[in-house]
Amino acid sequence: MERTMYFLDPKDMPTHWYNIQADLPEPLPPLRHPGTKEPTRLPPPLFPEALNEQEFSQERWIEIPEEVQEIYRTWRPTVLHRAYRLEKALDTPAKIFYKYEGTSQAGSHKPNTAVAQAYYNKKEGVKRLTTETGAGQWGSALSMGCMFFGLELKVYMVKISYNQKPYRRILMETWGAKCVPSPSQDTEVGRRILAEDPECTGSLGIAISEAVEDALTRDDTKYSLGSVLNHVLLHQTIVGEETRKQMEMADAYPDIIVGCIGGGSNFAGQFLPWIRDKISGAKPDMRIICVEPTAAPSITKGPYAWDYGDVAGLAPIALMYTLGHTFVPPPIHAGGLRYHGMAPIICHLHKLGLVEARAEHQLATFKAGVTFARTEGIISAPEPCHNIKVAIDEALRCREAGESKTILIAHSGHGHFDLAAYDEYLSGRLQDYEYPEEKVKEALAFLPEVPNA
Ligand SMILES: Cc1ncc(COP(=O)(O)O)c(C=O)c1O
Repeated sequence: MERTMYFLDPKDMPTHWYNIQADLPEPLPPLRHPGTKEPTRLPPPLFPEALNEQEFSQERWIEIPEEVQEIYRTWRPTVLHRAYRLEKALDTPAKIFYKYEGTSQAGSHKPNTAVAQAYYNKKEGVKRLTTETGAGQWGSALSMGCMFFGLELKVYMVKISYNQKPYRRILMETWGAKCVPSPSQDTEVGRRILAEDPECTGSLGIAISEAVEDALTRDDTKYSLGSVLNHVLLHQTIVGEETRKQMEMADAYPDIIVGCIGGGSNFAGQFLPWIRDKISGAKPDMRIICVEPTAAPSITKGPYAWDYGDVAGLAPIALMYTLGHTFVPPPIHAGGLRYHGMAPIICHLHKLGLVEARAEHQLATFKAGVTFARTEGIISAPEPCHNIKVAIDEALRCREAGESKTILIAHSGHGHFDLAAYDEYLSGRLQDYEYPEEKVKEALAFLPEVPNA
């Protein structure tokens, strides 16, 4: 009998997150303060101290608090699947595995950090959090995290997704959060942007500015970010640590790992626990491929430059591949991939030549998503359809070369709230967006000057 699923017993769930900072060949460039432009920690009024410590920690292993483990165990460990049906349909000798994060209550990987962040805020006496959300995955995950720890939450949701995906808002409200479309009339930044462009469809950068401004103006409130920052990537490493154990059960080791990157958290959570073998020289040929949309291709097209994390310039400045913090990407359905920058850890590893990057068009990714649905049965969120497309390309390359490589897909979530996008694809109404070169050029003119960098 072919074994298609690898289960890990809850007692074998990893008890520590893995911190790549302990093993980087060169240290990460420090964040810069948005005002002074000097090296900085995360702005203390915005984040609890425990997360600030994790952001810069050099400890290799960080213990997952028991209270967080207890909630993780309501859906973890997640299953590692062998995609036999996809392999057969592609007639490839490649072995394809996928680690599926769509079985969390919120439907994606995002609760791995949402629960941890809600816990640390609660522990430090915070009453209320604010955040941004793109596709609504992060907003719903944090709503669930805040529900578990009794915190209030206000979510600024990118307007295009708010309109395309009303069910995510209802999910957030059911868990007890408040959700508004961004840009909104509730903040200075939102009002300014709406005055300039009443039709603005929003972006993650704008929504971050609104959530940050809201948190800065209230004493009982802190801000929570669902991707990009080091501590967020750290919390996601539970995914890769579980996968290592499960791949061992399958007597397999990945030659290629593929994941989609919006701010970088789900894929980093999968590949950081593996890349230490590449850094140590044990697995020098392992390939790690990040996949982004052609409409917002920060790593494949953007310069490696200092830039703000948000539109208004309230968030710290990071050295990253960026399309410019004022860039508003075209309204592709993969809302979670519409971000101008990228996690500094991923950018650093790409700069060091340890990870590759590719950009894919929307139509090709939905075609891959439908192939996956018609073989494995799972309807994927538009974001992981990007790396499923690349996994299929790699498997077909194996067929041509007659090579039996092992491909591991980081599968970040289901697409049950994205069916309108599938409907557009299936009825031939979905379109591609070319790389918006002129708009990026305009946005890059606003990169901050960082002295002595
Ligand atoms: C299902 C899913 N995958 C991927 C992403 C991209 O974010 P990240 O790169 O931080 O994993 C998102 C973001 O909303 C998402 O909802």
